[in-house]
Amino acid sequence: MTSESGFPCGVRIAGTGSAVPQKVLTNSDLAEMMDTSDEWIRKRTGIAERRVCTPGKESAFTLQRDSLRRALDDAGMKGSDLDLIIVASVTSEMTCPSNACRVATALDAAPAGAFDLVAACSGFVYAMNLADTLIRSGRHKAIGVVGCDAMSSVLDYSERSVSILFGDAAGAAVLVRDDDPNKGSIYQTIQADGESWPSLFLPRKEEDIPPDSPDVPVEIGKLRMEGRDVYRFAVSKFKDVIEDAMESTGLTVDDISQFICHQSNVRIIESAKEKLGLPDEKVYVNIERYGNSSAGSVGLCLDEIRRDGKLKEGETIMFVAFGGGLTWSSSVWNL
Ligand code: UT7
Repeated sequence: MTSESGFPCGVRIAGTGSAVPQKVLTNSDLAEMMDTSDEWIRKRTGIAERRVCTPGKESAFTLQRDSLRRALDDAGMKGSDLDLIIVASVTSEMTCPSNACRVATALDAAPAGAFDLVAACSGFVYAMNLADTLIRSGRHKAIGVVGCDAMSSVLDYSERSVSILFGDAAGAAVLVRDDDPNKGSIYQTIQADGESWPSLFLPRKEEDIPPDSPDVPVEIGKLRMEGRDVYRFAVSKFKDVIEDAMESTGLTVDDISQFICHQSNVRIIESAKEKLGLPDEKVYVNIERYGNSSAGSVGLCLDEIRRDGKLKEGETIMFVAFGGGLTWSSSVWNL
């Protein structure tokens, strides 16, 4: 927990940015493509519309690049000021090279280190925690963290119970070393349990599908999800993760100014709010406009909240996410 000079250091969010595709896909648009309705989707998920990439023009890479460029602009920094870029995504175009390497090149960040991190919807919070730890170790000074998924590239729009939920988005943060050791993540968890992985997965070939998986009419290469299983996991994990962070830090709801949560389904968020007594104004929700953008959602919320002027120096916020893997992660963060 020291800087290069040997003194303890903290971590500051120097800038944030986000990027979403131009094209809006409404519930009514989906109702023309499959047997669903605006009413069903709003009631079961809280989603009215989502953004989807236009192939050939936008992609996971362009969203990742643009969100980090905006975060750098917000911080008043250049790509060459970064010494590491972490891109959390399950929809990067290729596994080699990582999209982080391509983003680094596009932003003139070489020779900054660059890698992709795969933790599905938990990816942005995993990456924020990792970046915080690397900066505190004294080995890194400035890290660009991106959470992004272009879910439209892995959805089978003939499967109504999965495809209506997701959208495309990216959120980014530039984290820098700060002399105040109290700034940054004061408590964090990065956790997973692979036992239930078949409840949410992206098979590349037929053999990837476990023999006891339900026989669903979803193409290979497209997302498969047991919605009800994931729903049950998310509802209990959301509550447990926040309770664990509160107990471990001794903080109460009154001490946290914002809970910045993965936008999975508004019913999941409402259930956590009710069980934990979280007031509306402390739990930001934008799922109505963007759907569930997997690793993109927490960073997108962070950027919108920050640009609204709702985050103030000296305040404490909490990041919470959970998703495929199954994975989950939290971070209590002093601004
Ligand atoms: O980001 C982290 C990972 N993902 C999540 O957190 C997602 C968690 N799960 C969910 O959000 C919900 O399970 C969904 C929104 C995906 C699905 O909602 P649900 O209330 O769990 O619906 P269901 O799949 O249990 O289906 C209930 C009924 C079924 O009809 P019957 O069998 O009761 O007659 C479905 O066929 O609703 C039907 N249905 C639909 N009807 C209209 C399923 N999808 C649709 C649809 N439109 N799009």
